[in-house]
Amino acid sequence: MVKMILNTDIKKGIINKNIYGHFAEHLGRCIYEGIWVGEDSQIPNIKGFRTDVVEALRKIKIPVLRWPGGCFADEYHWMDGIGPKEKRPCMVNTHWGGVVENNHFGTHEFFEFCQLIGAEPYICGNVGSGTVQEMQQWVEYITFDGKSPMADLRRVNGKDEPWSLKYFGVGNENWGCGGNMRAEYYADQYKRYATYVRNFGDNKIYKIAGGASVDDYHWTEVLMREAGKQMDGLSLHYYTRISKDWSKQGSATEFKENEWFSVLQNAFYMEELVNRHATIMDKYDPEKKVGLIVDEWGTWFAVEPGTNPGFLYQQNTLRDAIVAAVHFNIFNNHCDRVQMANIAQMINVLQAVILTEGQKMLLTPTYHIFDMYKVHHGARLLSMEFESPDYALGGDKISQISVSSSQDKEGKIHISICNLSPWQDADIDIDIRGFAPRYATGSIITSHEINAKNTFDAPNNLVIKCLEGIGLVNNHVVGKLPPKSVVMLEIV
Ligand code: AHR
Repeated sequence: MVKMILNTDIKKGIINKNIYGHFAEHLGRCIYEGIWVGEDSQIPNIKGFRTDVVEALRKIKIPVLRWPGGCFADEYHWMDGIGPKEKRPCMVNTHWGGVVENNHFGTHEFFEFCQLIGAEPYICGNVGSGTVQEMQQWVEYITFDGKSPMADLRRVNGKDEPWSLKYFGVGNENWGCGGNMRAEYYADQYKRYATYVRNFGDNKIYKIAGGASVDDYHWTEVLMREAGKQMDGLSLHYYTRISKDWSKQGSATEFKENEWFSVLQNAFYMEELVNRHATIMDKYDPEKKVGLIVDEWGTWFAVEPGTNPGFLYQQNTLRDAIVAAVHFNIFNNHCDRVQMANIAQMINVLQAVILTEGQKMLLTPTYHIFDMYKVHHGARLLSMEFESPDYALGGDKISQISVSSSQDKEGKIHISICNLSPWQDADIDIDIRGFAPRYATGSIITSHEINAKNTFDAPNNLVIKCLEGIGLVNNHVVGKLPPKSVVMLEIV
C-alpha cells in the first residue's frame, strides 16, 4: 500500500502553463508535411496549414511554441523567409539531412500558425552565424508599430499591425551547433546581442539565454554570474535515451524490460538536473526572477528503419507516455524555478505528439499525456508527501511511483500519478487534508504491452480511458493503479 498525504492547506507556487510548451524546428517532416502542406495541397488545410493537425493541437491547449530551431536557428536568416514565396531563396539545411529548404514557412506563417493553434510564439534568434543587426531587425520587423525600414517592409509583405512577441531566445546550444563557444565567450555575446533585442511600444520581450547541455554546471554558473541580470530565462537541454553513450541509440518500439528501465531511470535524471542547475541559479538569483527554461526535452532513439537518419523520425510508445508524465511531474514540482519547457518536437521528429503519413495522421501516446495533464496549466501546486516503493531490476532501482498535484481556480484537485513498474500494481491511499472531498474520479493510459503504440492502421490502440475502482473512504482516496500506467485523479 502506498500511503500519501495531500496537504491542500500548504499551497505552493503556480504551475506555469508554459511547462506544457512545444518546439518545432525545420527538421525532417516537422514543419513541411507535418504543419505546412501549402494551399494547393490535396491534404485538407487552412491557408496551407494541415487542418487535422491544427484541430488536434488546439485540443491540448499548447501555450507556447518555439521555432525555427534548434541547430537550424543558428543558420537561419529570417529575411529569406518573408515576401512572395516564389521569390524566397532556397538554402541547404546542412544540420538536418542536407535537404533544400525553400523558406515557404517563414515569419508570417509562424505567427499565423501560432494564432491558429492558440500558442504564444517563442522565436530563437541566430547568434552562431547571424549578426547583431540581423537579430535587431527581426525584432523590429515583428513588433515595431511606427514608421521604420523594417516595419515598412512588414507592411509591404501584407501585415500592417505588428505582432506581439513575448519570448525570444538569444541563440541555441552555443556550446555546440550554435557556434562552439566557451561559456565565458557566449556570456559576453549574449549581452551584446540581447542589448539590441528591443522592447518596442507595449511589447515586452522575455529574453532567454542559451543554457547548458545536460550537466554542464559550469555553463550555468558563468552565465548566471556574468549575465544573470540581463536575462529573464536561461535554458537547459536534456534528452532521455537508453544510455549516455550516443552510439547506443536503442529502438523506439522494439525493447525489453532492461531498456524500459534504463529509459525511465534516465527520465528521472531530469530531477537531479533541475535541482542542481536551480541551486546555482539560487546563488545569483535568490528571488528566482530568472526562469529555468527547459526548451528541449524528450526521448531520442534510433530513427524508424528505412527513414532518413537526418530526419530523426521515431515512433512513440507507452514508454514515451510515461517519460512525458515523469517530466511533467518533475517540472510541476519545481514550478518555483521551471517557467517553461518545450518538448522536442511537435510533429514527426523525436518524441512527437503527432505523426503524419501523407493524408494520414495519428496522435501518439505522448499526445494523450499532454491532453491529460492540461488540468495542471496555471493551477496551484499542492504539497504531497509519500514514500515510493522501489522498482528494481538487475541490481538497480528507481522509484516505482512519480506524482504531482495541483488545485485549479475552481477548487478541483488533480493528482497525476505514474506507476513505472511493468508488472506490479500499486494500491494507493491518499489522505486528503484541509479539503472535504465529495467524489473522486480517474482517467488512465495503459496497455498490456510495454511497447504498445498507435499506428496509422490502429490509431486508437492507446487512448485515455476511465479508471475504474477509485473510491472515497472518509477523507481518503483509495484505489489500484495498474502496472505501467499514467493516471489522473480528479477530486471535487
Ligand atoms: O531537437 C533536435 C536538436 O537537438 C536541436 O536542433 C538541437 O538544439 C539539439 O541538439
